[in-house]
Amino acid sequence: MGMGCIGLPPPALLANKGYRVHGVDVNQCIIDTINRGEIHIVEPDLDEFVKDAVNNNKLTANIEPAISDIFMIAVPTPFYKDKLNEATNSPIPNVDYIADATKKIAPYIKSGNLILLESTSPVGTTDMMTDILKKEGVNIDSVFIAYSPERVLPGHIMRELIENDRVIGGINTESTIRAAEFYRTFVEGEVLETTAKTAEMAKLTENSFRDVNIAFANELSILCDDMNIDVKELILLSNRHPRVNILNPGCGVGGHCISVDPWFIVDSANGKAKMVEQARRTNDYKADWVVEKVKNMALQFERDNNKVPKVACMGLAFKPDIDDLRESPALHITQELNKKLDVIAVEPNIQDFQGLKLVRYDDACNSADILVFLVAHKQFKNLDIVNKQIFDTCDVING
Ligand SMILES: NC(=O)c1ccc[n+]([C@@H]2O[C@H](COP(=O)([O-])OP(=O)(O)OC[C@H]3O[C@@H](n4cnc5c(N)ncnc54)[C@H](O)[C@@H]3O)[C@@H](O)[C@H]2O)c1
Repeated sequence: MGMGCIGLPPPALLANKGYRVHGVDVNQCIIDTINRGEIHIVEPDLDEFVKDAVNNNKLTANIEPAISDIFMIAVPTPFYKDKLNEATNSPIPNVDYIADATKKIAPYIKSGNLILLESTSPVGTTDMMTDILKKEGVNIDSVFIAYSPERVLPGHIMRELIENDRVIGGINTESTIRAAEFYRTFVEGEVLETTAKTAEMAKLTENSFRDVNIAFANELSILCDDMNIDVKELILLSNRHPRVNILNPGCGVGGHCISVDPWFIVDSANGKAKMVEQARRTNDYKADWVVEKVKNMALQFERDNNKVPKVACMGLAFKPDIDDLRESPALHITQELNKKLDVIAVEPNIQDFQGLKLVRYDDACNSADILVFLVAHKQFKNLDIVNKQIFDTCDVING
């Protein structure tokens, strides 16, 4: 259930390992693409896996589920855009897609089936799924239900699906054992057994760990700017301590995992997830801080040169060398600056973006007065830039 970045690779792999797989999605375009033996996402090697699986009649796709032995759910888990948790003033996780997918599979479930949730989920979601199935008339005592978070890195999914260690947590011991047995048929990493709640929290913990550590680096970059200290040098020196390993600062944190999942902890923690919450806010604040810095640079430029500067925002994606703009701080910064300044934007991985003037990176380097580097894309390394004001948030110029 869900044939996206995370949902499609496992069926493609399993279909090449002898399983017969039926892929389900709500998007007819995706279904048609898969049935043609093609893919709709960018992921190395996945196209070959899907083509072979479809040609060998091992993979089919449809809008409707089918009777199966194993059900896997990998649908989106964003947060609601339009409502906040009033107690913590923080985003609320949206598990509606999981609820919907669960209801859809219910009529096809029979005794002995294994039902697996792979979406990154708030603690308690596997129990919620179980309750939904119960309400839909499924005899819960006759099936096995488990949570198995996915921790693959896009760009390396087909390899990491096999090699990574895996955490599996069932709603009861038998479910954990059955789910772990299934994953061991294709995972070469260790399959670690626990409870559903611990597995749910493990995934959120992993992403929060990254967020907290990046927040520390981002906070240092702001402090160093005030103190006129080179943050790169500071981190290099501090990391010479044998037990210190500070990450690199950037213009914020984006993507639909690290900038989203820690809020799932905050939402359910009744104000007790202070560090996780503060890290989220610090990383979001870093982007707004960059906006203010650039506005001040532009003001100063105008005073010094008696003309309004052209500002080039270099990079829109949430990380280097991809075209993914989800929750991207670089995009947020560019859109905010675009409201007040004369802005051109460069994103080598996409053609156009509504509301922004996209230009080639060499044109930007020639025509802009201020260059703001937001993403360390490979095209921005070793650029020959003369006579420009530069604000490099991601250390790409000298990196
Ligand atoms: N992308 C990553 O790097 C990554 C890594 C680990 C975990 N995750 C988690 O995996 C989950 C899926 O993420 P993704 O990146 O694959 O999302 P995605 O948006 O690429 O794909 C989700 C797919 O689910 C489909 N869908 C929505 N509702 C459905 C329903 N009711 N029934 C069937 N299909 C439905 C959508 O049409 C879409 O094709 C999320 O919880 C995400 O947080 C993502």
